[in-house]
Amino acid sequence: MTTLTEMAVEVLSTADGRAKTALSHKHAATWFAARAAGEEIPLGDARPPLRPARPERPELLDPREVPRRRPGSEQGRIAILHAVAHIELNAVDLHWDLVARFPHVSFPPGFYDDWVKAADEESKHFNLICDCLESLGSHYGALPAHAGMWRAAEDTVDDIFGRLAVVPMVLEARGLDVTPNMIEVFRKAKLENVVEALEVIYGEEVGHVAYGSKWFHFLCGRDNLDPKPQFHALVQRYFHGALKPPFNEEKRAEAGLPPDFYWPLAGES
Ligand SMILES: [Fe+2]
Ligand SMILES: [Fe+2]
Repeated sequence: MTTLTEMAVEVLSTADGRAKTALSHKHAATWFAARAAGEEIPLGDARPPLRPARPERPELLDPREVPRRRPGSEQGRIAILHAVAHIELNAVDLHWDLVARFPHVSFPPGFYDDWVKAADEESKHFNLICDCLESLGSHYGALPAHAGMWRAAEDTVDDIFGRLAVVPMVLEARGLDVTPNMIEVFRKAKLENVVEALEVIYGEEVGHVAYGSKWFHFLCGRDNLDPKPQFHALVQRYFHGALKPPFNEEKRAEAGLPPDFYWPLAGES
């Protein structure tokens, strides 16, 4: 029987975005079918690659070299969607990496349920945004993309506390802050298909941040650590730069992130 870490490694080792996300969805369905039938898919100990396989395109550039475009133009809107597609593809890999990277840390099965579900949702998000790009005559790979997106994973490759603090509780929470304005950009441009896709993403991302907060608190509780100072120390260690207000306080609260977790880490708005 294929183990869960083997499934994760298979997704991480697939380069093409549509192929990667199809495999991600297939493995998630296998996992949840087994769970529903009361069968156990063993975790196993397959080792994920340090970096996931990536398609030849997009070209990956230093964030400072990625050209900026005005959001009011068609090219600007395509650039925003291209950046979102890139984030979603990275998110697929980030969640499967989280599933497979820490097999020595013992978790109840609900931990894997949450991250396999999150990975499956990111796979859907990637495809939704690729469809939007294609409806605008573009595609994922047509523009350059940020090279630095896997850095958080590499920095926290041996620190499960740091991984949860930085990936879902900082990076994905940031998505909650910026998505409402993005939805407005596409509403103004009367691109209803994009608005719908972004609303699906916005709704499901709250859950990913919540999983992060839930399992971070779980680990802290098990080790008798105070979560708030832990979180602050880990973000300062692994996240480069201050958090950027304004924050989406309502959605962050819904996701189990209280203001005293993030406000002390905020820089200038
Ligand atoms: Fe997503
Ligand atoms: Fe997410």
